Amino acid sequence: MTAAHARFPDLEGAGVIVTGGSTGIGAALVEAFVRQGARVGFLDIAVDEGKALVERLRGAAEHTPVFEAVDLRDIAATQQAVERLAGALGTIRVLVNNAAWDDRHDIDTVTEDYWDNNQSVNLKPVFFVSQAVVPHLRRAGGGAIVNFSSIAFLLNMPDLPAYAAAKAGIIGLTKSLAGRLGPDNIRVNAILPGAIVTERQKRLWLTDEGIEALVGRQCLKRPLVAEDMIGPCLFLSSACSGAITAQTIIADGGLL
Ligand SMILES: NC(=O)c1ccc[n+]([C@@H]2O[C@H](COP(=O)([O-])OP(=O)(O)OC[C@H]3O[C@@H](n4cnc5c(N)ncnc54)[C@H](O)[C@@H]3O)[C@@H](O)[C@H]2O)c1
Repeated sequence: MTAAHARFPDLEGAGVIVTGGSTGIGAALVEAFVRQGARVGFLDIAVDEGKALVERLRGAAEHTPVFEAVDLRDIAATQQAVERLAGALGTIRVLVNNAAWDDRHDIDTVTEDYWDNNQSVNLKPVFFVSQAVVPHLRRAGGGAIVNFSSIAFLLNMPDLPAYAAAKAGIIGLTKSLAGRLGPDNIRVNAILPGAIVTERQKRLWLTDEGIEALVGRQCLKRPLVAEDMIGPCLFLSSACSGAITAQTIIADGGLL
């Protein structure tokens, strides 16, 4: 029995938008919401993977997810994609800001263009997708926004300064949006994942020895995987967390 088996009845039929839903944690979240009976739309730049996910989930539950291919750095195109998803889904109750780009970079070589590009993937869309979705949440009488931050900015990681700054910024954004949107019955919370072993992480950064070393630093002595983010995200999206807003949940297996 895992979190993926828990039922959140208020998510059944709910309109949900997930950014970065084609791969990794986002794909696990898209599948989890679909299996709750939600009507899910997701945005991603990874076109083949997004289409493949839709095909894999076709018929798996009542509602097949809807995919919009978009580069979230293009705010106008993203706003239009959100409107198309809203048209396809009807009411929207949940937004999960999950998309990110965690390429490593060094203080000595980061250019202004690199910095701006990094923020335009990791921070800017969290604000502008929220801004585009909020009118739909208001129309629905309220809802939930779940932002994916990271413990990266708490760990003095030397090779991610722009990413870490963006992920810290997401906490500030979470708090501010929660304050502004609480009167509209819209809750805004953040999840800070620890080291989550995804295909991309294994392809680019995580060796078997690296995973072993990370697990050694965790209280929980097993690698964390994308599915470990499902429980916290469904909980923060559902009415089960109806009194929780402006909060952050660290889901890192107790990384020391
Ligand atoms: N995997 C981890 O160990 C870990 C740790 C801490 C935090 N997180 C956070 O959790 C979230 C998901 O992590 P993940 O490992 O699955 O991330 P990932 O990098 O594997 O996937 C993110 C998704 O965002 C999409 N994306 C990237 N740039 C985009 C763009 N310009 N426009 C549209 N889509 C774009 C990618 O195609 C991908 O499908 C991210 O916010 C990440 O920062 C992950």
